[in-house]
Amino acid sequence: MSEGPGRASLDYSVRKGCDTKTRTHADAGSGALTTSRSGHASAEPAAHYSRVMRTDIPEVPWTRMEEGTAADYAVLTAASAAHTSAALVDNLLTMLDLLKGPNLGYQINRYEHSLQSATRAYRADESDDLIVGALLHDIGDVFAPANHSDAAGALLAPYVDERTEWIVRHHGISQGYYYFHHLGGDRNAREHYRDSPHYDACVAFCADYDQNCFDPNYDTLPIGEFEPLLREVMGRPSRFDT
Ligand SMILES: [Fe+2]
Ligand SMILES: [Fe+2]
Repeated sequence: MSEGPGRASLDYSVRKGCDTKTRTHADAGSGALTTSRSGHASAEPAAHYSRVMRTDIPEVPWTRMEEGTAADYAVLTAASAAHTSAALVDNLLTMLDLLKGPNLGYQINRYEHSLQSATRAYRADESDDLIVGALLHDIGDVFAPANHSDAAGALLAPYVDERTEWIVRHHGISQGYYYFHHLGGDRNAREHYRDSPHYDACVAFCADYDQNCFDPNYDTLPIGEFEPLLREVMGRPSRFDT
């Protein structure tokens, strides 16, 4: 791989002390779809769940939440928190995999676009938060295409700094500068947010790590290079916890 001007390599295993060999993305758990008797498609548990699924959690005796006790919720909350945090990054990697769909007219697909965005941010020596923000900035396309920026911002908000969250939340309207006018819209719609302290950073993000990230000839780093950093950033305690 070529090396960017910012850092010599993405050796987070050294820099961050992370294990880079914990997972092969091929078994990320895309989950074979099956069809239930009702005719609805359902997914088998993703492969990664078998590594994080706990079977030692006592089951509550009730079926209505209003019947639960403080002791019940202490157990349930701890179990849920442990499970979701253990599975979060694998889920995110699976969601990123879903961006490997068709190119939709561009020269690369959205998965490659996301990696290219993260690679350019990394090579420009951006913060860890922003690199992860770049990697996930379009992940909302998978489940919230009508407001993908907001969805990705909400996903990242507990774990990254406010600047990164703001950039990701507003990258859609900011990116519109490059094409809204071709669709009869206002390319300067982003000006509505000019008073934000993060406005200029968002404009720069779109210029340097988004609108230019559709190049099939760019030396984009593979997902494995970013996985340890993704695990570190998304493994932080939520900044919303009291
Ligand atoms: Fe986007
Ligand atoms: Fe994008």
